[in-house]
Amino acid sequence: MPSHNQGGAPGKPGSAPKPSPVIFAVANQKGGVGKTTTSVNLAASFAAAEYRTLLVDCDPQGNASSGVGVRRGSFELSLYDVLIGQAALKEAIVATEVPLLDVVPATQDLVAAELELVDATDRATRLRQALRPQLDGYAFVVLDCPPSLGLLTLNALTAAHRVLVPLQCEYYALEGLTHLMATIDRVKSAFNPELTVEGVVLTMFDGRNSLTHQVADEVRAHFRVFDAIIPRNVKLSEAPSHGKPALLYDAQSKGAQGYLSLAREILDGPPAAAADPKKTQRANDEAEPQAEPPPTTGARARDARPRS
Ligand SMILES: Nc1ncnc2c1ncn2[C@@H]1O[C@H](COP(=O)(O)OP(=O)(O)OP(=O)(O)O)[C@@H](O)[C@H]1O
Ligand SMILES: [Mg+2]
Repeated sequence: MPSHNQGGAPGKPGSAPKPSPVIFAVANQKGGVGKTTTSVNLAASFAAAEYRTLLVDCDPQGNASSGVGVRRGSFELSLYDVLIGQAALKEAIVATEVPLLDVVPATQDLVAAELELVDATDRATRLRQALRPQLDGYAFVVLDCPPSLGLLTLNALTAAHRVLVPLQCEYYALEGLTHLMATIDRVKSAFNPELTVEGVVLTMFDGRNSLTHQVADEVRAHFRVFDAIIPRNVKLSEAPSHGKPALLYDAQSKGAQGYLSLAREILDGPPAAAADPKKTQRANDEAEPQAEPPPTTGARARDARPRS
């Protein structure tokens, strides 16, 4: 089972010694870059690999909840109740149809939590306090953040061990990243010294577009980027309307396979410190003529923290 302070392949549930769960925040203040798609499908991929996983919907839009089939009206308690102290996290957990995957759902109420907590001295640590003592039996927790750097994202970053940053290869993508990394550094020094950036996940990747490659190269020059690349794939966009992760909707789709590769890359542990950058580039070049690139480039993720 995983441990937030260790690399390498985690053991399966039941193996000794008892490890602590790893909490991922999936964050990027830019809207529509694939945070929820990444949260839902990565969580489902961990569960498919037989790791008990908890998805926590930290976004009032509630898309992660509906994305795993937990629709408004089908649950009584949500993250709102947990954050304002009306319920324990365990009481708000709902099982999904994916074996080993549970969710703490969110609704529009969560907007009110931001307002209600604004004067609370522990406003940044509410989620951490609620979450960390209640994770018995879970190997992974995935926190789906809203598209802002407000109190909800702050709570997620304070509660997490590692941050995953989904990024769509567009012209302004890097500007937002710099701001996000500065926020992560502030959260690290103020609330959560153990927080690390796990890496950038390239999403909605379209290898036919030359701008995509330029932006990807630029991001790789500054940040650690996963080798598992998530292609633009219609199955990933259709699956939420069926309330299913892509693995249940179409397991063979390139989208579902892309997220399985991402999960594998994370499960395989820390990246090689000096992976060959040319290898990644070569694989991308090979992918270019295809409508959708293969989900992995075959190389391991490159070195850890954002480069200064
Ligand atoms: N790889 C992909 N291929 C095709 N469509 C995708 C892919 N990833 C995400 N989408 C679609 O793009 C839209 C935005 O994705 P998503 O909701 O995951 O982004 P988000 O960052 O969570 O958005 P928000 O900032 O609003 O929370 C959704 O309609 C989703 O289905
Ligand atoms: Mg979202």
